[in-house]
Amino acid sequence: MYIKEIELKNFRNYDDLHLEFNENVNFIIGNNAQGKTNLLEGIYLSSIGKSFRTSRDNEMIGFDKDFFKVKVKGEKELFPVDVEITLKKDLGKSIKVNGVNISKTSELLENIYIVIFSPEDLKIVKDEPEKRRKFIDKELCTLRPSYYDALSNYKKVLNQRNTYLKEYNIEPSILDIWDMQLAKYGAAIISMREDFIKKINIISNKIHSNITNGKENLKIEYSPNIKNQEKLEEKVFDILKESRQNDLRLRTTTKGPHRDDIEFYINEINVRSFGSQGQQRTAALSLKLAELNLIKEETGESAILLLDDVMSELDATRQEFLIKSLSDIQLFITTTEITDSLREVISKGKIYTVENGKIKL
Ligand SMILES: Nc1ncnc2c1ncn2[C@@H]1O[C@H](COP(=O)(O)OP(=O)(O)OP(=O)(O)O)[C@@H](O)[C@H]1O
Ligand SMILES: [Mg+2]
Repeated sequence: MYIKEIELKNFRNYDDLHLEFNENVNFIIGNNAQGKTNLLEGIYLSSIGKSFRTSRDNEMIGFDKDFFKVKVKGEKELFPVDVEITLKKDLGKSIKVNGVNISKTSELLENIYIVIFSPEDLKIVKDEPEKRRKFIDKELCTLRPSYYDALSNYKKVLNQRNTYLKEYNIEPSILDIWDMQLAKYGAAIISMREDFIKKINIISNKIHSNITNGKENLKIEYSPNIKNQEKLEEKVFDILKESRQNDLRLRTTTKGPHRDDIEFYINEINVRSFGSQGQQRTAALSLKLAELNLIKEETGESAILLLDDVMSELDATRQEFLIKSLSDIQLFITTTEITDSLREVISKGKIYTVENGKIKL
C-alpha cells in the first residue's frame, strides 16, 4: 500500500499543511529542528493512533493551540482508505475511518500499515528489555487487534494491582479478582508473543544471512517470564498466587509478561553480551526488515517504511542492502543531506524541503 496525501492542522510545528506523496520514495530534507520527524510522526499516527515518540498525545498539539487534526489518505491493493484523527486538548481523541467514527482504537488497526526505523531501533539488541517489549507490542498491535485489546486491558489491571499493593490493608479476595483478569489477558499476550517471535525468527534469519553473505546465523528467541504451556491461563493464575507473598513484600507485581524479553544469538553466541556493535546493528536491521516481510505475509499489503535519520547511521554495505531490499515499497526518508547512496534512489522519488514547519517542493 502507499500513502497518497496528508493534511496536518496545528500538529507540532505545522500550522496547516497539505501534501501529496510519491508512490515510491519521498525524501524529507532539512536542517535540524525544522519538522522532519514531526511529519513522520503525523504519518505514523494514522497506523496505530499513537506517536512513536511520546505516550502523551497532548504534546503533539501545536504550541498555543487547543486541537490538532491529521488526515491521511492511503491506497491499498484493492481500495482506498482514509483516516482522520482529531485531538482536542484535555477532551481526547476522535478517529474516523473512511468518514465513519470509530469507538475503539483497535478498530483503527488493519487500515494503514507503517513501520518506523530510527537510530534508536539500531540499539534494540543492547537496550533495556522494555524497548524490546515495546517493539513486540507495536508490531503485534499492528497485526492483531485482539492483541491490542488484551495488552491495554492487561496494563490497566496491572496498574490497579500495583497501586493496591502499595496500600496498607490488603484484602486477598480483591487480589484474586485482579489475578483472574491478569491471567486471562496475560495468557493471550504470552501465546501471541511466542507465535510472533517464532515467525519473525525464521524471516530475520534469512535476511541476516543475506546481509552477511551466509557468514552469520541469527536466532531470535522469546525469553518469557512465564512460559507458554498447557492450560496457560490457569498456570498464570497459579504463578501469581505463588508469588503473592513476594509481591506483598515488594509492593509490586513480580511475575507476568510485563517482565518478558527476547534474546538474539549469532552463531549460537549471545549478541547482547558478546556481539560486536556492528553485529548488534546488523541484527537490528534484519529484525526491522523481517517486520516488513511479516506484515506482507500476514496481510497481503506492503507496509510503508519511515526511515528517520537512519541512513547516516549505516555503513555503505548496509545502506546498499537496505535500499536494494526496499525497492518495491513506499519509503519516507528524512535526512539533513543527500549522500551518495541516496543519490541513486532519488530518480525514483520526490524531494521535499522542510523549513520551520513549511514544505517546499
Ligand atoms: N507541540 C509542538 N508545537 C510546536 N512546535 C513543536 C511542538 N513539538 C515540537 N515542536 C518543534 O518542532 C521542532 C522539532 O521538529 P522535529 O523533531 O521534526 O525536527 P527534525 O527536523 O526532525 O530535526 P532533527 O534533524 O534534529 O531530527 C522543534 O523546533 C520543536 O520546538
Ligand atoms: Mg528528527
